[in-house]
Amino acid sequence: MGFVIAVDGPAASGKGTVASRLATLHSLPFLDTGSLYRAVAVAVLRAGADPATPPRPARPARALDPATIDENAIRSAEAGEAASLAPAHAEVRAALLALQREFAAQPTGAVLDGRDIGTVIAPEAGAKLFVTASPEVRAERRWRQHVGRGEPLTLADVLDDIRRRDERDAGRGAAPMRMADDAVLLDTSELTIEQAVDAARRIVEAARARWTG
Ligand code: DC
Repeated sequence: MGFVIAVDGPAASGKGTVASRLATLHSLPFLDTGSLYRAVAVAVLRAGADPATPPRPARPARALDPATIDENAIRSAEAGEAASLAPAHAEVRAALLALQREFAAQPTGAVLDGRDIGTVIAPEAGAKLFVTASPEVRAERRWRQHVGRGEPLTLADVLDDIRRRDERDAGRGAAPMRMADDAVLLDTSELTIEQAVDAARRIVEAARARWTG
């Protein structure tokens, strides 16, 4: 297996930005695994079904083609909320597991970001980061993104949503969000994007120097 970089963390922690920049720096393919769960949630919502009710969400999860994901639709607040409900079902996770593991197993190596990359999807990853920030900082970042998309949400609503999702992501029985024992914690609360990327780059360089393949 090539060099895999696993980037986990809660919503709006900066993990996506950090992960995609690391992928560019190391010329590695990149998978935002949250987009898979979001795409499943959008498919469930479009079918008029309830993402919280098993086993319906498992069907779109099995049928998911990552090439057809509607990037705009999956970034809405509604999709994010629904996306944190569907993955609580072991069936949905099982349906998306092979796809993610295959991506991680590419001979080139890969970068994946999500909630359970370092613990479940790629426990053998050469570098593991757990990117976090305070709920208030994350809410402000996410709120700006939603306002930029023309979604009229209040900061207080987004903070409530972030807290609810943290609880759900960390509290579920199936592959809960958890920092892997061998991951390095990166708190981006007080960092600019460039500072966060720089700190991540140094963490990965140190891990790569130790990596034996
Ligand atoms: O990272 P994100 O906000 O796009 O993720 C949306 C939801 O998908 C998140 O609330 C939980 C779920 N998710 C997951 O359960 N496991 C992952 N590896 C990635 C995301």
